Amino acid sequence: MFNSENLTVNQDNHLVIGNFDTVELAREYGTPLYVLDEDLFRKTCREFKEAIDTYYDGNGLVLYANKALCTMHISKVTAEEGLGADVVSGGEIYTIHKAGFPMEKVFFHGNNKTRAEIELAINCGVGHLVVDNRFELDLINEVAKEKGIVQRILFRIKPGIDAHTHDFIKTGQIDSKFGVALENGEAAEIHQYASTLSNIKIDGVHCHIGSQIFDNEPFSEAARVMMDFIAELKQKLNIKVNILNLGGGFGIKYSSDDDPLPAAEYIKRAAETVKQCAAEKGLELPYLVFEPGRSLVAPSGITLYTVGCVKEIENVRTYVSIDGGMGDNPRYILYGAKYSAVVANRAIAEPKGPVTIAGKYCESGDLIQEHILMPEIKVGDTLAILATGAYNYSMASNYNRIPRASIVAVRGNEKKVIVKRETYDDLIKNDVL
Ligand code: LLP
Repeated sequence: MFNSENLTVNQDNHLVIGNFDTVELAREYGTPLYVLDEDLFRKTCREFKEAIDTYYDGNGLVLYANKALCTMHISKVTAEEGLGADVVSGGEIYTIHKAGFPMEKVFFHGNNKTRAEIELAINCGVGHLVVDNRFELDLINEVAKEKGIVQRILFRIKPGIDAHTHDFIKTGQIDSKFGVALENGEAAEIHQYASTLSNIKIDGVHCHIGSQIFDNEPFSEAARVMMDFIAELKQKLNIKVNILNLGGGFGIKYSSDDDPLPAAEYIKRAAETVKQCAAEKGLELPYLVFEPGRSLVAPSGITLYTVGCVKEIENVRTYVSIDGGMGDNPRYILYGAKYSAVVANRAIAEPKGPVTIAGKYCESGDLIQEHILMPEIKVGDTLAILATGAYNYSMASNYNRIPRASIVAVRGNEKKVIVKRETYDDLIKNDVL
């Protein structure tokens, strides 16, 4: 009935996540509240891992892209489930390292890594750095030399694939700030140069074509382009690539308009292409890496809010205002993102008419969804926005000096606050009078 298999309705007609009544969770912890179904998250991690086992003989690794949601608890869970990690900043490295994540399974991304971040990565024993450009390559070589190590790297390649997704989250085409291009020879050139550096070991190639992609064809195309490039590196430059990282970007169901493939389908299709290309070109099978974020964690999360006012503007629209908004979920204001909403305390109800769900931030664009068909909504109702596990808490801000919400994880009959709600004191802790 709802987008996600873990959401049900109990005899009080309340929305239930895992084994927990969302209305009671809202009452106990306050709103806005992010709730994460840890059982579903772990199950999804396993599905991805099993897909590599089934379709690629286990010769690969699924990395969890921490940008989707990075907390110490999440890091512990992904480590327990045997995943690797994609990180993009010193902050993400610091968080997962503190949580005890096995750092050799970490890939450090980013188009402008600072010296301090590179030093931190090397000090923490990050397995691979995914190099974006020549300046960074020189810097990594220099830092690695100072530390007396040889750093393993992958290059981020723009494979020239146009994935059909929002412009802001499209990354594989030549006009992208990320990586080096194939079609103008930049990628081959940087490999040649890197092979002359003493403290760099080229271990693989990486690409990421975009995010929230519903078709598995672009992943297969990307795999083919990358395998061609691997063959070229071997033939022309005598560089042997061990790892092929095809990035993340698998789409999920935010609303009834979305029809994503099961995760395993993306992996299956890409793995088949890689095997076929390897056979055609007489290449060894590379160690195959994927790095999904959204598809691993988004469906496990919901956000609970309390309705504070309902403003019916005749012949215009009805605004339903909640006690959160762009500070905890900036995805509508940024991308016009689609979401499904449920009145958690009357989960099954006849639709009444379209409403606009507005936040409490001092900004007209602070909306969660516009013209969405909803049942009657009253002041005091608990509103659930679904599939908010990715890119919500991780993109949250303190705009208007509103403290960030907390995250509660539910697992079986256990529930646990994995991120505490910020306090007003947290807001001023870095202020200097
Ligand atoms: N790998 C790389 C190199 C990436 O840049 C990304 C996402 C991922 C993996 C994970 O992609 P995913 O599987 O989560 O789609 N804030 C935007 C999404 C930005 C994605 C940035 N890169 C949103 O809220 O839709």
